[in-house]
Amino acid sequence: MRPRKKIVCVVGTRPNFVKMAPIMRALKDGMTPSDVVLVHTGQHYDEAMNARLFEQLHIPAPDIRLDVGSATHAVQTAEIMRRFEPVLDREAPDCVLVVGDVNSTLACALVAAKKGIRVVHVEAGLRSGDRSMPEEINRVLTDQLSDRLYTTEPAATDNLIAEGIAPAAIVFVGNVMIDTLMHSRSSAVPASQTLTAWGAPSELSAPNGRFALLTLHRPSNVDEPEALRRLVETFISISRQLPIVFPVHPRTRSALESSGLQYFLETPGVTALPPLGYREMLGLMASATLVLTDSGGVQEETTALGVPCLTIRENTERPITISEGTNTLVGTDPAAIRQAVALVVSGGGKSGRRPLLWDGKAAERIARDLLQWLHEA
Ligand code: UD1
Repeated sequence: MRPRKKIVCVVGTRPNFVKMAPIMRALKDGMTPSDVVLVHTGQHYDEAMNARLFEQLHIPAPDIRLDVGSATHAVQTAEIMRRFEPVLDREAPDCVLVVGDVNSTLACALVAAKKGIRVVHVEAGLRSGDRSMPEEINRVLTDQLSDRLYTTEPAATDNLIAEGIAPAAIVFVGNVMIDTLMHSRSSAVPASQTLTAWGAPSELSAPNGRFALLTLHRPSNVDEPEALRRLVETFISISRQLPIVFPVHPRTRSALESSGLQYFLETPGVTALPPLGYREMLGLMASATLVLTDSGGVQEETTALGVPCLTIRENTERPITISEGTNTLVGTDPAAIRQAVALVVSGGGKSGRRPLLWDGKAAERIARDLLQWLHEA
């Protein structure tokens, strides 16, 4: 019999939960359950951002909670590190598995690497080329600290090799976020049900109701009041042609309030919702005429669903959603956004195809490779 191996898996924020769900399932199939330890840093802590997602995604309750909460980047990262170190001392795992590009990802990778514990990064190699994004710094550094790197698209593998990562450490496995999407597709909550529950106008929740789904939370879009005001005015003008449904991230809600822009949430034609569960969000995305977003994950999910996506950023770290999927980078210029929306509304949206290995089996490939690698090393 092979010796037992122990893995500590880390989550901190909403997109981490979506990525970790299929990995936990796949690992527990091949390992003694007590050898897979789930740590939640507490970077996201609101009920709406947390418990409902865990429940809907069937993620086991975290074994360890660090309860760090919100703070500046430095304080949040440092606090996660401080609280994570004793966990590794106690658990003495064979590796630490991190996903994505949030502060929790980098903080835990750094603690593990400094303790000589191997780091495994899922969703490695994505690059926007934009170091003003906190996530870009988290990605570059996490990858440099990682011993096994799983990629979602060929460009990510190329980026890692260009940064000097040994090709033998990189494995192209596909996209765990799409594993979750395919697994949950049949249990998505219909858009009409969500819209009715939150009191949206009845023409929106009608079977053929057309709407744009908006998500917005990037610091570059919401933290600077003038940039946010320009976007808000653009969305208001769009909402006169195509109603907007807007689940509001807590960061964005406080930015709207502090910039005196909360009137946006009461504009006729705009239906503001609280942060939603995964299944509600999936139902809304699947039924939307188009999606306006600055999220990374939503660019991928809309590509898998075949729904046109207009990304309100100047760059993307997920180029395959543009070259093969339904995504268009529209930037933040009001005229360009309005024009792109008009094109989709008139039937000119991209249809795209699902990228290679976005087939619902990425986590199985990761679990197989990871266990073999741990036993060989
Ligand atoms: C984080 C990630 C981002 C990811 C996003 C998904 C980093 C640097 N950013 O951004 O990559 O796309 O999660 O949502 O890690 N807040 C609450 N309740 C919560 C969490 C946050 O009210 O449960 C508010 C707080 O005011 C907090 C702000 O949102 O200060 C920002 O939260 P934070 O976790 O720092 O970053 P996000 O914007 O959520």
